[in-house]
Amino acid sequence: MSYDLVVIGGGPGGYVCAIRAAQLGMKVACVEKRGALGGTCLNVGCIPSKALLQSSHLYEQTQHELAEHGITVGSVSVDIATMIKRKDKVVSDNTAGIEFLFKKNKIDYIKGAGKITAAGTVDVTGETNTTLTTKNIVIATGSDVTPLPGVTIDEKQIVSSTGALSMTSVPKKMVVIGAGVIGLELGSVYRRLGAEVTVVEFLDVILPPMDGEVRKQMQRLLEKQGLAFRLGTKVTGAVASEAGVSLTLEPAAGGEASTLDADVVLVAIGRRPYTEGLGLDSIGLAANARGFIEVDHDYQTAVQGVFAIGDVIGGMMLAHKAEEEGVAVAELIAGQSGHVNYGAIPSVVYTHPEVAMVGKTEEQLKDAGVAYKVGKFPFTANGRARANGCTDGFVKVLADAKTDRVLGCHIIGPEAGDLMQEVVVAMEFGASAEDVARSSHAHPQLGEAIKEAMLAVDKRPLHV
Ligand code: FAD
Ligand code: NAI
Repeated sequence: MSYDLVVIGGGPGGYVCAIRAAQLGMKVACVEKRGALGGTCLNVGCIPSKALLQSSHLYEQTQHELAEHGITVGSVSVDIATMIKRKDKVVSDNTAGIEFLFKKNKIDYIKGAGKITAAGTVDVTGETNTTLTTKNIVIATGSDVTPLPGVTIDEKQIVSSTGALSMTSVPKKMVVIGAGVIGLELGSVYRRLGAEVTVVEFLDVILPPMDGEVRKQMQRLLEKQGLAFRLGTKVTGAVASEAGVSLTLEPAAGGEASTLDADVVLVAIGRRPYTEGLGLDSIGLAANARGFIEVDHDYQTAVQGVFAIGDVIGGMMLAHKAEEEGVAVAELIAGQSGHVNYGAIPSVVYTHPEVAMVGKTEEQLKDAGVAYKVGKFPFTANGRARANGCTDGFVKVLADAKTDRVLGCHIIGPEAGDLMQEVVVAMEFGASAEDVARSSHAHPQLGEAIKEAMLAVDKRPLHV
């Protein structure tokens, strides 16, 4: 078969790229070896984790939050098998949705592992083996779990995020290695379901890329909810037996070793690019020292007609970043001027409350010597947050001291991820804090906290 474009990998980067390219009139195939479209995100990432976050949040609310509303329920229990079954259905409905979109856009979904054998040639090994010839190739093979030496993942007692999304029971004691996004989201799921959760983190802080003030407050909130943290600590080994897992810990700076026991250990220390079996060497390409495929401004690798996008090229390992790159590269291949604004890509942690950020942190602005103003507004002063009973957190806006242009925003709070979208659009259009502050915000809405934080940049908030 001969194509204009063959995309290798059917994750958010690859499948979105395939759809956009088909919209632009190209004859497109997408090769995926997982047996389902949607990549890490839909199958073992964003979507299943959010399904379990939602189920476990409902369980916790039912147990602890309904009574103050005057609602009484009988005894509350959780059936993990049903919860996991629901999660699996959410996943399969979503992945089937992408197959439908492929049919609608006349994209050939080729099931199997793609291997580049020459520029313009992809061999597929799968149900049927086939060779595809194409004018262009987009590599969108994503990422995989970073292993931790001495802590062997068996997906039963020592699990990666994939195993943690399909557990058959709630462990009594769980240790999470890594206080990053996966550790805090999935650690929260099992804490809500009744596990005693300890998070061991190498650094002295949780959520390393976030604004310092956000990191501190979020740690306090999570501790209040019952998560325990061992910061500045490294795990040097694990022994699994029928009795559970015994971990050996050491202070990150060096010192005396100690042990920590758990029924289940979740390894969540990051993800690494995935290029196994892709055949990069057959076209003279090599991944860089960290395993990423290097590309230029137009996502072109060192080989003409071979492009790469998504987790496999590094940067923020986020589904929506991969999607934006998928659209941009399809447009560039079609001769248009696709572009991604990396300065306005939001990042959200789906704990309760949520944490969201876009743009620069206060630490980054200080390091870069940029003069900035800060506007802050707490959710305790927002009427809707009080009515909803979710007053933890704040909105913090960073704006240029001279021009008032919004440079960054950080939110801990109810629906922080959805709320952040207005700031993303504002930043995309180069808005000033005053522009957002002068926009009418419906009352009573959580979003009024954003307006107030923008007003606070100019020291004139109305409700604090
Ligand atoms: P992937 O989604 O990894 O897709 C790559 C695909 O390529 C895979 O399906 C793989 O099977 C296939 N493939 C690889 N090699 C070949 C080959 N040779 N031939 C054929 N197919 C191949 N991001 C967010 O933005 N929001 C979230 O809430 C979020 N939650 C997450 C939760 C978890 C637990 C995890 C693990 C990740 C989460 N992420 C989240 C990150 C997100 O999943 C990734 O950033 C995103 O999936 C990257 O998309 P991608 O298309 O680059 O790669
Ligand atoms: P991460 O990079 O977010 O966090 C990893 C944490 O582990 C860091 O705090 C790091 O300091 C720590 N760490 C590293 N080595 C360690 C060690 N040896 N011992 C103890 N701690 C160690 O990675 P995570 O949580 O695994 O997530 C992977 C990727 O998936 C992230 O890049 C993230 O972007 C994406 N993701 C996004 C989500 C979202 O957008 N809501 C949800 C889940 C994942």
